[in-house]
Amino acid sequence: MTAMDIDAALRRVSEEYLARNPRSMQVAHRAARVLPGGTTRTTTFFAPFPPVLVAGEGSEIVDADGNRRVDYLNNYTSLVLGHAHPGVLSRAMAAAGRGTAFSSPTEYEVRLAEVLVQRVASVDQVRLTNSGTEATMAAMRLARAFTGRPRVARFEGSYHGTHDYTATPGAGIPGPVGDLMVTLPFNDIPGCERAIEQAGDSLAAVIIEPVLGAGGVIATDQEFLDFLRRATVHAGALLIFDEIITFRLHAGGAQATYGIRPDLTTFGKIIGGGFPIGGFGGREDVMALLHPTRGSIQWGGTFNGNPVSAAAGIATLEALTPPVIDELNRAGEELVERLDKALGASGLPAGVTGVGSLFNLHATGEEITDSRAVGRADPGLTELLHLGLMNRGYFLAPRGMGCLSTAMTTEELDGLVNAVEDLVHNL
Ligand SMILES: Cc1ncc(COP(=O)(O)O)c(C=O)c1O
Repeated sequence: MTAMDIDAALRRVSEEYLARNPRSMQVAHRAARVLPGGTTRTTTFFAPFPPVLVAGEGSEIVDADGNRRVDYLNNYTSLVLGHAHPGVLSRAMAAAGRGTAFSSPTEYEVRLAEVLVQRVASVDQVRLTNSGTEATMAAMRLARAFTGRPRVARFEGSYHGTHDYTATPGAGIPGPVGDLMVTLPFNDIPGCERAIEQAGDSLAAVIIEPVLGAGGVIATDQEFLDFLRRATVHAGALLIFDEIITFRLHAGGAQATYGIRPDLTTFGKIIGGGFPIGGFGGREDVMALLHPTRGSIQWGGTFNGNPVSAAAGIATLEALTPPVIDELNRAGEELVERLDKALGASGLPAGVTGVGSLFNLHATGEEITDSRAVGRADPGLTELLHLGLMNRGYFLAPRGMGCLSTAMTTEELDGLVNAVEDLVHNL
């Protein structure tokens, strides 16, 4: 397909999208008057406008025009049991019925912390937050305080939320913030060795997603993570695993599949069962700095450990037993194989990466082992795949990321493969 063919096909799918979503378009116009670009989340926006949703029911979402789509995004991987799961809802509503927020602890937050400590071998103690962004921000501060060092290293293509220490200095993020960060090459042992050595005793921590999520769903090599564990110990720096997405892959987190024991772990998404949450935890001696009377770090949060989120999170994790997770991962891996075949047979420069129940369609024929290859994908074809699947009733991230929920049926898994085949053969 030439660039002109892609442009023409994109115009056709955009017109079809506009025709199918008139009511969403009206709301999008209203939204644009009161919200910059009509949205509160840069990441969920796409042109011409995202559909305005009115309901989520298990594996499906319904928009303001009555379109039903299979939700392969699940609020960016957080709804692992699907929408409005009855067991989760009843526990959340029972908690909400007794009060939605208090300025003193509830047993819900204690129980959620207990579940995390029981499941994740490296985690002795936990703090809960309202978002993953807050969790990575707190973990970085904790590492700096524990080591007495200023700099934190993260990886090319990583995403750890929206605070200043996760973004590239630029609009609104002063240059000196960048001096406190080190960017490491992903899956590249010699490159990391050099950068970590160069950072020397200024390095407080290295933070890594064991599977790059937003960067394209790319697994980290075992050898690379083994190296990173040794290298951080050697450098006197802490190793932080950001498991905000990957906690769905194993009851003990992706760290259990890799057999790595990080010093700190950040959580989010599924641990709130669809409600706002985040959390971080790890070694007792490090977490001790947060002790309210003996520690040196003050960390508040009006809604930290919110009982409704915690109750929903507990219910979700109880339902997410190891066999349930195994089955979800197996279904995800089978789906990726079939999508790969469908895209491979199309002759288009397109492929798919996946780990367990996570996957990402890519508009490039390159083998994908880091986010640089993801960055070389064809933007027009990426958009075409996304809008084409929206028109066929499948909701994925604009950049092609998707995930499974336990609410999905075999027909819905087959349906995505068929929709991709239909789309690529009718461009
Ligand atoms: C790996 C990772 N870390 C941190 C975050 C930030 O979490 P939140 O959006 O809850 O602030 C995300 C969100 O997508 C994420 O994927």
